[in-house]
Amino acid sequence: MLARKLNDLKKSFLLSKTEILDIAKNFKMEMSKGLTGTSSLKMLRTFLKTPLGKEKGQYLAIDFGGTNIRIQLVELLGNGSFQTKETISFRLKDLEVGYDLTAEQTTATELFDFIVTNLKTLLKEKKPYALGHTFSFPCHQISVDRAVLLKWTKEIKTAGVEGREITDLLEKALVRQQLYQINPVAILNDTTAILLTASYSDLRADIGSICGTGHNTCYREPYEPLTRKPMIINMESGNFNGFPRTIYDMVLDQASEKPGQQFLEKAVSGHYVGEIARHIILELVEQGLLFRGQNYPELLPYSVQAQHLAHFLQDQTPELQNISQWLARTWQIQYTSAEERAALQTIASLVTTRSAQLAAATYAGILLHIDPHFQSEHVIGVDGSMFEKMPAYMDTIHKILQNLYQDKINHVRLRLIKDGSSVGAAIAAATCLETD
Ligand code: BGC
Repeated sequence: MLARKLNDLKKSFLLSKTEILDIAKNFKMEMSKGLTGTSSLKMLRTFLKTPLGKEKGQYLAIDFGGTNIRIQLVELLGNGSFQTKETISFRLKDLEVGYDLTAEQTTATELFDFIVTNLKTLLKEKKPYALGHTFSFPCHQISVDRAVLLKWTKEIKTAGVEGREITDLLEKALVRQQLYQINPVAILNDTTAILLTASYSDLRADIGSICGTGHNTCYREPYEPLTRKPMIINMESGNFNGFPRTIYDMVLDQASEKPGQQFLEKAVSGHYVGEIARHIILELVEQGLLFRGQNYPELLPYSVQAQHLAHFLQDQTPELQNISQWLARTWQIQYTSAEERAALQTIASLVTTRSAQLAAATYAGILLHIDPHFQSEHVIGVDGSMFEKMPAYMDTIHKILQNLYQDKINHVRLRLIKDGSSVGAAIAAATCLETD
């Protein structure tokens, strides 16, 4: 019974080569549609210049990626490399301490005051700094330093931020705390920050992507129709919907903060993969295929996380003893068969492999759009916990691209760009201060 169920799950989750190619073609079509009109991809312009790798100096970088914020003082060394001088990280939400700046009861002022209060602790001297702000949510970019939040993603709900110009909110908070010497000169998406960081040391970089808590990709468009020039476009590809969805995706979507939106992100990103697995596990429990006769805890929404799936996948012991210990420790489930533990590992593998397959399909779609005959070399810079830490993830993406494009794929490199979100903000700030 369990084996049959797992087989059915395999069929609904894993994509064939033809399906992946179809998704890539759909994605390419959505890109073209979105450049000149509406599509599931927002195709947002960024106005940012590509760095030359020679940019130098110290810049402040805010990396507002989700509930964790990191602020750094970054020194660009001018030879494609950089050094991080200072770092502070803090959480917008700590229910144990008793605060949540991501809740709808919180105001924009409270949120930005909290960020600036933390920023203040990093400043050792009263020097003027240009600041780059990586703000990883869909924004309508008015100019390099002005962007309006279209909508929150990643289940953040802070009131009074959607529809507002973000640099204005930040500047007002800086003034309230008398930090007149800090000058926000750039605001950008994290995917753009990754692409800028990759480009800083390698001019072939033309795609930047995040496979972490959220998911999104940007690329360098050779011909942006309004400016008729090359421009980095933040696609907000997490909202792409041209791929087959399973019943579990639909259930997750209905219970999410924003039903009907961010379908790709809900299938790919670290925030959601654990939740998909949780729905599958609960179904198997209800069907009497898992944990029969055992007391098990109520598996609350979002209590199964990407890191747990990674842990399941890492277990190479013959009887999956690590999973067994984890179940006893975390869910107080003392007795499981090796078959049940293998089922958990299979579920983790199905959900995360599909995530990698979908991400790869969108990269293939972008390559089809920018270079259909694979005449140039491309570097895809990627960051995020799924890409960096999920077992086999990066390898799966690479193999899919290889399988789709055989030897042409030698023109394409996939690179992990660690810390790109904040370094990219510093690079953006530097390019904004450059005179042409
Ligand atoms: C946001 C994107 C962001 C991505 C990765 C998504 O939820 O909409 O703007 O790039 O997460 O952080």
